[in-house]
Amino acid sequence: MKAITKNTIDSFNRYVIPNYTRNPVVLTQGKGVYVWDSEGNRYLDLFSGWAVSSLGHCHPRVVNAIRSQAKLLQHAPNVFYTVPQGMLAKLISENSSGGQCFFCNSGAEANEAAIKLARIHYSSQGRFKIITMYNSFHGRTIATVSATAQPRYQKGFSPLLEGFTYVPFNDLEATRKAIDDKTCAILVEPIQGEGGINIASQSYLKGLRGLCDEFGILLILDEVQSGMGRTGKYFAYQHYGISPDIMTLAKSLGGGVAIGAMIARRDVARSLVPGSHASTFGGNPLACAASIAVFEAIQKERLLENATEMGKYSLERLNSLAKAFPHIIQEVRGLGLMIGIELKQEGSKLVQRCMERCLLLNCTHERVIRFMPPLNVKKKHIDLGIALLEEVLREL
Ligand SMILES: Cc1ncc(COP(=O)(O)O)c(C=O)c1O
Repeated sequence: MKAITKNTIDSFNRYVIPNYTRNPVVLTQGKGVYVWDSEGNRYLDLFSGWAVSSLGHCHPRVVNAIRSQAKLLQHAPNVFYTVPQGMLAKLISENSSGGQCFFCNSGAEANEAAIKLARIHYSSQGRFKIITMYNSFHGRTIATVSATAQPRYQKGFSPLLEGFTYVPFNDLEATRKAIDDKTCAILVEPIQGEGGINIASQSYLKGLRGLCDEFGILLILDEVQSGMGRTGKYFAYQHYGISPDIMTLAKSLGGGVAIGAMIARRDVARSLVPGSHASTFGGNPLACAASIAVFEAIQKERLLENATEMGKYSLERLNSLAKAFPHIIQEVRGLGLMIGIELKQEGSKLVQRCMERCLLLNCTHERVIRFMPPLNVKKKHIDLGIALLEEVLREL
């Protein structure tokens, strides 16, 4: 082990809170679909760090945008206007359902803003309850962990924030029954990511839109993981022919730079009057410049088309793998490049063995391997990844 590796791990052991289970690997560099560690090993990254690096690592457009903006203006308080924030809000709005944006720095903060907006919007009517789904994931703040209907993320943090009602995902009737005169919103991921790549059915998401219209409540879509081209459209809801009242984004929005956003229907957005909500770093010029570069890359490099095509190809290849290993693989499911391989056994060993072969994947919900390559991935990378995965499956 090189000194840099040992010293870095030692520093973490001494000075970093151990709230993550880390692999004994020090990542030092990334380019495209590859990352390198301090020992010189090169890894094929088909997970993109929880779908953050969706243009691959250090995409030249993002690097150049950060460089140029860093020389001009890095931070400006939100009591002033800045060019990049205005440009980015326009891009998000024009590529979604035409709402207005609030910027923050993470997915949890975007959902926190959505929860606050839904509550304040209906505060005069005393409506504050939000319906969320089992196996959802909305973040780690107290409000978003309360919204996340998975006990494993809530354990030890009681009392949680009141006002969340949990119902099963893809169950419209259960949602209808849960609505009462205190309900102000339904919060749902179009595709549950951490919950195991569970895809909302057409009738379910359309039905939720219908319920929100019928009861005069807000539909909040958490597109933190599924948004920004991951499924082959800018936002996963665009596969369903509906529009949300509020949508949240983060992860790949900044091409690797921390940024989150909440986009709300104009009349709803007005409820966030000056002083009601804020974020010091939210919408800072540096992060917004990086995010504008992500939109440019998606448009100029035809990444929605590539995600659709490569997603289809990956699903075909992975389904063949499922046929070859029926004793290990239960099901392969996905939309675009948001793909889950559900195993019949625990998946962490498989992910570990893949890493030993320099392939990065992830396991969520114990048995679901997440396959989320960058949107500009090429066939040769998918082929290489699947060949490595097949070797590991044979070994198991
Ligand atoms: C759907 C969804 N919402 C919210 C979050 C929280 O985002 P962050 O970790 O940036 O706070 C995540 C993170 O995995 C997510 O997948």
